[in-house]
Amino acid sequence: MSDPTTSNNPLRIVVLISGSGTNLQAMIDQIHHTEVPARLVAVISNRADAYGLQRAEQAGIPARVLNHRDYESREAYDTALQTLIDEYRPDLIVLAGFMRILSDDFVRHYQGRMINIHPSLLPRYKGLNTHQRALEAGDIEHGCSVHYVTTELDSGPVILQAGVPIEASDTPESLAQKVHQQEHCIYPQVIDWIARGRVSLQDDTVLLDGQPISEQQRRCQAKN
Ligand code: GRF
Repeated sequence: MSDPTTSNNPLRIVVLISGSGTNLQAMIDQIHHTEVPARLVAVISNRADAYGLQRAEQAGIPARVLNHRDYESREAYDTALQTLIDEYRPDLIVLAGFMRILSDDFVRHYQGRMINIHPSLLPRYKGLNTHQRALEAGDIEHGCSVHYVTTELDSGPVILQAGVPIEASDTPESLAQKVHQQEHCIYPQVIDWIARGRVSLQDDTVLLDGQPISEQQRRCQAKN
């Protein structure tokens, strides 16, 4: 991986998606409108109908489809995916709504350089239906987390989180909308940190500016 602190090369990012790609759009907007030293070198989807592919094409980013149905096993798919990703020599792999469980070998190959966004305040509500589960539990707060990807699902070290208050009138849909808005703020923030060499993973510890990230730094205030 090129070290962003010592080279002038922008951080090369490959984004994996399966759907709408609103987080991808937030990154495209960030990279077009700020000085962040990063480049989206490819967007890869496992579904040909993912709207995010159109967002990539409109932004002039190579958009590729690798359909999981064309492979006999998870391992075979992940091996092909790894080969495709590595064609682009990425420094960072960004999972943005990529709806696949990843095999351990694949995850280990990108250890410390693959991040994900999850719609809950981890470690709460790993897995699916997070908004419904937060409502059913009677929580007063919900949110989203950006974390490094490790072999255990939604369990890697958290880099940044944003909370949203749960109102009595909230439904899974309204909550999803509020959480999404925060995702579009924290994911670009984390990419900025990584691109500027400010954040890295050392063993299981997230470092910000060379020090273990504090609880306070890990938690960003909700923005409207
Ligand atoms: C987001 O809710 C994210 O938390 C989850 O997948 C969704 C992707 O949304 N991992 P989008 O495709 O970026 O709009």
